[in-house]
This record gives sequence, structure tokens and C-alpha cells, in this order.
Amino acid sequence: MTDPNFHIPTPRLLISYLLPSLDSHCDFLVSLYNTPEFISANGKTSITTRSIARRQLEGRFRAEHARNGYGTYLFSLRSPTNPNSLSDATPIGTVSLMRGDEPGSYTAPDLGFAILSEYMRKGYTKEAAQGLMDYVEREQGVKDVLGLHDPGNKASAAVFRSLGFRDVGLRQLLVFGPDVVGQVWVRRGMSEDVSVYGLPREAPLAVVADVKKVDGTAEDKGVAV
Ligand SMILES: CC(C)(COP(=O)(O)OP(=O)(O)OC[C@H]1O[C@@H](n2cnc3c(N)ncnc32)[C@H](O)[C@@H]1OP(=O)(O)O)[C@@H](O)C(=O)NCCC(=O)NCCS
Repeated sequence: MTDPNFHIPTPRLLISYLLPSLDSHCDFLVSLYNTPEFISANGKTSITTRSIARRQLEGRFRAEHARNGYGTYLFSLRSPTNPNSLSDATPIGTVSLMRGDEPGSYTAPDLGFAILSEYMRKGYTKEAAQGLMDYVEREQGVKDVLGLHDPGNKASAAVFRSLGFRDVGLRQLLVFGPDVVGQVWVRRGMSEDVSVYGLPREAPLAVVADVKKVDGTAEDKGVAV
């Protein structure tokens, strides 16, 4: 996660690393994780200042990339005048593939995303997610990708549906806490029996009325956003 020139191009975007050395990247993360949509979907974030963002990027974000070979990426809108230049591109969102390493972690990474409010509903998140999945499949042979989100998050559900994922229903997600129930999606070509990825085979018998947010304070738990 240290190469400042690394990027994955898509028709309208450049997907690159979040660099802790850049104030602009740290500030962008603070803005992104504090939009009304992000807070309503994921709860309040602990990433509220440039220095906290920098510590997270240097710590957990970098460790995930080192461990898995993928993690959280920035996606930026290409400049009309200099479309291949990363420094001229405008950061608008993040896309991530996350896989834990603690006992009971799922065997496939889960896809996460977030975008600044003013750029929503233009297909950018879908484009970034597809670009990243294509890249890790081509370069690292990663084909299986899960979608996990709070059951009430309609925007997340719409993105997974639009990417061709299949909704396999609610599952208890013990990795994120004892009472966490989430909506689970699998990428095209994957088994609908999600026990093969380490999730429960069936939906929980009684879905608790007060379903906890899958993403809670997502960046603390290492959930993909
Ligand atoms: C979820 C989120 C990233 C979607 O970003 P986006 O850039 O607006 O999504 P896209 O424009 O790429 O949309 C992809 C598809 O989802 C649909 N969609 C997106 N937001 C939607 C919404 N709020 N309601 C219904 N459909 C929605 C789009 O219409 C599009 O469908 P189509 O391809 O069939 O036309 C954005 O709402 C967000 O940042 N939310 C807060 C953070 C969050 O919830 N992250 C997910 C945690 S798992």
C-alpha cells in the first residue's frame, strides 16, 4: 500500500491506494466517513480528525493490505484534461475487499464501498467495485466475494444486486459480534450454501427485533466499507 503510482483504471475512475503521507487523503477519509449517509448506514465513526485518519491508514489499513494483498482503496474521478493523472483526479469514494484472520473469519473477502453524497447515484460505486473485483481476480485469482450489510441498508443492497450478486438472506454474523445479523450476498458463480465460506448455513431462527448494525463502528471492526 505504499506505491504512490499504483492505480487500476476504469472508464471514468482511477482506483489507487490511500496514502497516509498525504494530508489530502487523510482529510478525504474524514469527510467520507462523516457524511449523513455513512453515519446512518454504519454508525458514528471514530475517524474524525486528520491525525486519527493518518494513524488508521498507517496501522489497520496498511496491515490489511500486507496480510491479504488487498484492502481498502481510494477511487477518484479522472480529470477531463489529464485523464491518466492521479494527482489531477478528484477523490470521491472508497472501495474495499476485507478478510479477517481471526478464528471463525470467513474464507472469502467481503466487498465494501462508500462515496461522497454529491457523487451518489451516478454508477461510480458500481464501476469502482467491478474494477477492483476484476483486478483481484485477474492478478490474484480471487473469485469469491461476499456482500454483507445491515438489512436496512437499501443502497448497499441495490449496489450488490446491480453487480449481479445473489441475495442469500439473513445470517448471524458472529465475526462482528454475538447479536449481529446481516444480509448476505454471494458473487455470481459462488455457492448459495454459504457454510462453505464459514457462515451459518441457515438464517437465524428468530431474527432479533433490534437487529444490530453489521457495520457498527465499521472501521474499528475491520468490516468492509
Ligand atoms: C452505498 C453507496 C456506496 C452507493 O453508492 P452510489 O455511488 O450511489 O451507487 P451507484 O450509483 O454505483 O449505484 C449502483 C446501483 O445501486 C442503485 N442505488 C444506489 N443507491 C441507491 C439507493 N439509495 N436506493 C436505491 N437504489 C440505489 C443505483 O440506482 C444503481 O442501480 P442500477 O445499476 O440498477 O441503475 C452510497 O449510498 C454510500 O456511500 N452510502 C453510505 C455508506 C454505505 O452504506 N456503505 C455500504 C456499507 S456495506
